[in-house]
Amino acid sequence: MTQRQSSEDRAAWLADVSRVDVDRPNAARMYDYYLDGNTNLAVDRAAAEELLKTGPWARPYAQANRAFLGRAVRYLTEQGIDQFLDLGSGIPTVGNVHEVAHQLNPAARVAYVDVEPVAVAHARRLLADFDNVSITQADIREPATVLAQPGVAELLDLGRPVAVLAVAILPFVTDDTEVVEVVAGYRSACAPGSYLAISHISPLGVTDEQLAHAYDVMSRTPTPVRWRTEAEIRPLLAGYTLVEPGLVWTPNWRSDHSPSWLSDPADANAFAAVGRLP
Ligand SMILES: C[S@@+](CC[C@H](N)C(=O)[O-])C[C@H]1O[C@@H](n2cnc3c(N)ncnc32)[C@H](O)[C@@H]1O
Repeated sequence: MTQRQSSEDRAAWLADVSRVDVDRPNAARMYDYYLDGNTNLAVDRAAAEELLKTGPWARPYAQANRAFLGRAVRYLTEQGIDQFLDLGSGIPTVGNVHEVAHQLNPAARVAYVDVEPVAVAHARRLLADFDNVSITQADIREPATVLAQPGVAELLDLGRPVAVLAVAILPFVTDDTEVVEVVAGYRSACAPGSYLAISHISPLGVTDEQLAHAYDVMSRTPTPVRWRTEAEIRPLLAGYTLVEPGLVWTPNWRSDHSPSWLSDPADANAFAAVGRLP
């Protein structure tokens, strides 16, 4: 799962990060740490380790989530989808959406969106040489603004089917009414035959104390989180027809086998689904 930066890339990244924030942990860089990347700082590693004290799920969650993203993009490309809007795309790591899609269709277009300036600057450097790939800094909670950004509007043709990827991003929309509106904002802009892929962390099997501790650690970042139960996640897929196997634990979505490092798929602590707009 690991893609570590070269020392040259890391030096450029550190220059970016030192202009922005070195004092506060950050979700994108904590996630990178759980994926064994090196695009993170001491403050991120400390917060990630703090969370691990009561959250043994954190690493399996990140790794199973990333694996789901790869399987979903492969599946969608096989269905003929050749344009992707990746919301909350994170720091580029191994198995990025354009890499997976381009294996099957080198002409596939991918618009990445993230709010975190350092993740965006890093992605911009790494993606500079790729055609048909853009990175935009924007807040995904504002669908109309996101869709009007040149990196999105000039790359994607929303008159044709597109796949919206909301993978490990909706927990950052903490308000329950707003999260439904956000998803609906993207859905209403998409043509019939478009898809939505989501994964979402869940508190099932987690004690109240573990959940409170996770919320507390994430509240020290600029992007606090809200975990949702399966019943709370399902309405986010309203309007879409779920493809098999429906809404399931991330490791179980179109996978023949659970990864060897995971004894129980529920330990990955997140649900995933892909739906198609009729
Ligand atoms: C856990 S990472 C997920 C990365 C990727 N989607 C994946 O599944 O591998 C969440 C990302 O969402 C970004 N994020 C959080 N809130 C956001 C917002 N309101 N708008 C855009 N990006 C956001 C964070 O900066 C971080 O990079």
